[in-house]
Amino acid sequence: MLREITSIFLPALSAVAPVLQKLGATDFESHVVTEPPDPNAPFLRLSNLVKIYPSAQGGVTALKGVSAEVGRGEFVGILGRSGAGKSTLINMLTGVDKLNEGEIWMEGTPVHTLNEDQVAFWRGNKVGVIYQSFELMPSLSLLDNVMLPMDFCDLYRRGESRERAMELLRQVELQDHAFKLPSAISGGQQQRVAIARALANNPPLIIADEPTGSLDSATAEIIVELFEKLVDEGKTVILATHDHSMDDRFSHTLTMDDGMLVDEKHAGSSEEQYA
Ligand SMILES: Nc1ncnc2c1ncn2[C@@H]1O[C@H](COP(=O)(O)OP(=O)(O)OP(=O)(O)O)[C@@H](O)[C@H]1O
Ligand SMILES: [Mg+2]
Repeated sequence: MLREITSIFLPALSAVAPVLQKLGATDFESHVVTEPPDPNAPFLRLSNLVKIYPSAQGGVTALKGVSAEVGRGEFVGILGRSGAGKSTLINMLTGVDKLNEGEIWMEGTPVHTLNEDQVAFWRGNKVGVIYQSFELMPSLSLLDNVMLPMDFCDLYRRGESRERAMELLRQVELQDHAFKLPSAISGGQQQRVAIARALANNPPLIIADEPTGSLDSATAEIIVELFEKLVDEGKTVILATHDHSMDDRFSHTLTMDDGMLVDEKHAGSSEEQYA
């Protein structure tokens, strides 16, 4: 659990930051983007994604050539039963795992070509990641948890990052709990802190894997409403879930089965492109 979180942030701190300092540059574009964004390109483009996990039997193909386009400001649901490949797709999108084949482009960044340090830097700046089990640092206060990505990416001065973290906690209505440890608040509240943390560096893209999976339905509703608010504010939110009660909340759904995209719908359109 914690290893996942530190693997998200630590490479940015330990490897990328000194390199950037040496180069005398701290701006994202000069390090990660290799092509100027094409104004006609979609916000996010996935082309023929293939992921094969090694196994004693010779490999499990969890993604079998998934292609899709996502526009800015969409609320995207990745749907499908257990084992369909939803988490695998999420892990490719966040760059925490490597593709075997295919391309992921986000606003001019060829994510599939980035090395481990670059991808950590890209993710820290451009993607807020939220997990089913919150993944908060248990020994840090809620405020410090939200400040963590800002400190790793060094986008804000110390005083500024503290003020911003408090403002983000206010947005999720937890400012009065800022100095508590995660263990002192409920699961729904912890997930709200995880959302505040995902917003720390103001990323355009929020990616969540089963973010309501450990919550009761009333608490899950509060979390879904928070995501809808983010979409209204212009963020792109991509959420994997097997909870069908959420289907009509998304503006765009991608349904997976056996590692393939088997259905794609945009809200307001009844056309099924892969039926
Ligand atoms: N690390 C791994 N090593 C080997 N096989 C894996 C690994 N992770 C996932 N798989 C396999 O890849 C396939 C897709 O798994 P994935 O976790 O992406 O499904 P999912 O749609 O997220 O399911 P769930 O709804 O249960 O979370 C499954 O067959 C799974 O067993
Ligand atoms: Mg999963």
